[in-house]
Amino acid sequence: MTEKLWGGRFQKTAEEWVDEFGASIGFDRELVLEDLEGSTAHVKMLGKCGILTQEETEVILGGLEKLKEKAKADELEYSVELEDIHLNLEKKLTDDIGPVGGKLHTGRSRNDQVATDMHLYLKERTKEIIALTEDFQKAILEQAEAHVETLAPGYTHLQRAQPVSFAHHLMAYFWMLERDKGRFTDSLKRIDLSPLGAGALAGTTFPIDRHYSAELLGFAGVYENSMDAVSDRDFIVEFLSASSLLMAHLSRLAEEIILWSSQEFGFIELDDAFSTGSSIMPQKKNPDMAELIRGKTGRVYGNLIGLLTTLKGLPLAYNKDMQEDKEGMFDTVQTVTGSLRIFAGMIRTMTVNADVMEQEVSKDFSNATELADYLAAKGMPFREAHEVTGKLVFTCIQKGCVLKDLSLSDMQEESTLIEEDIYDVLAPVAAVRRRNSYGGTGFDQVRVQIGKAKEVLGQTVTKN
Ligand code: ARG
Repeated sequence: MTEKLWGGRFQKTAEEWVDEFGASIGFDRELVLEDLEGSTAHVKMLGKCGILTQEETEVILGGLEKLKEKAKADELEYSVELEDIHLNLEKKLTDDIGPVGGKLHTGRSRNDQVATDMHLYLKERTKEIIALTEDFQKAILEQAEAHVETLAPGYTHLQRAQPVSFAHHLMAYFWMLERDKGRFTDSLKRIDLSPLGAGALAGTTFPIDRHYSAELLGFAGVYENSMDAVSDRDFIVEFLSASSLLMAHLSRLAEEIILWSSQEFGFIELDDAFSTGSSIMPQKKNPDMAELIRGKTGRVYGNLIGLLTTLKGLPLAYNKDMQEDKEGMFDTVQTVTGSLRIFAGMIRTMTVNADVMEQEVSKDFSNATELADYLAAKGMPFREAHEVTGKLVFTCIQKGCVLKDLSLSDMQEESTLIEEDIYDVLAPVAAVRRRNSYGGTGFDQVRVQIGKAKEVLGQTVTKN
């Protein structure tokens, strides 16, 4: 059993299995670079404030630099007896440079230290996730631009409702992702604060300069209250929450991809690179990646609920419960990052079966609203027009045909307002084109929308 860093107060050391239970090194080793960065800023600050001599500062900085190199080369080995990344690194530093290494922790506690690490870590990962979300939006835009005039069935209740532009359907996800990006971007304001120098909870007696260390770490500001600084995990909850909603969006699209690529729909075909086969059924091509993203959504929700539950009822300030904030956060970063990468590739490379969708919309009743609107435009109250159209749909079902197959006289039996021009009105392409209200699926509107989307992404708008 290793000598503990707090050995002074203790008569005996813990059993190995007790150490193991309390240790976080198995997962917080992920924070090694952030921890070294935080320590570097802290030591520079101690030096600048005259709390350490220039020589001490330089020796410690040199030691930290060596540890950084080893960490980058993945050469550091950690021990469970030393509990976490902070104590492991401090021990290594002292082993390397001697007792002066023990001065690193002057005016600092692991409580402000770990909080600093988490802020540094999440700030960078959030930025990465914003960039990956944007790349996925670009993939959607690319497909949308190619399919403005591709007709697709639009659904409500998963029943054929009205035909839409396939680009319009895809672009709905663009805007969801735009809101996701907004939530991550907004949370950055609160991630971008330094807890360093809050000490264990009450601040410190040393004449430290928190603003200086914050500046060295690239933080926009510092926490105003030391107790809040060490016990705040809101920024992680916000990250998990924004991630949960993002995953909900990915999962909805995943579900559509799964449906669309089925034999029943046949609207798209996924690239081989994003599909898998079956070990027994040679004909199969499964949308595994989409299914997996739909499935992984659950663990991200779980991570959010897990942390909220951990925090509920914790008295101020630091409590060991908070060590439970890490695994869910790491897991979420990995899940969201991976899902976004996969999705961008999957959407970019999928084949859209435009002909299948076009045939489908000409074989259904999703143009029934056109007929009702046509009658209403000729002065018939909409309720009555709805009734007349419903009767004609019923006639079709009995005859085994669709509206455009009815003869003019068949239709006129229900209303004499119906004239020869009805056949043009019933064409699905006309149904889509005419929905020219702002934000609607009319081709012109979809082009306006795509233009806006490009503006949002800061790209040059190409005139369509
Ligand atoms: N491993 C700990 C955590 O992640 C670091 C902070 C420990 N602080 C303490 N006073 N025990 O929360």
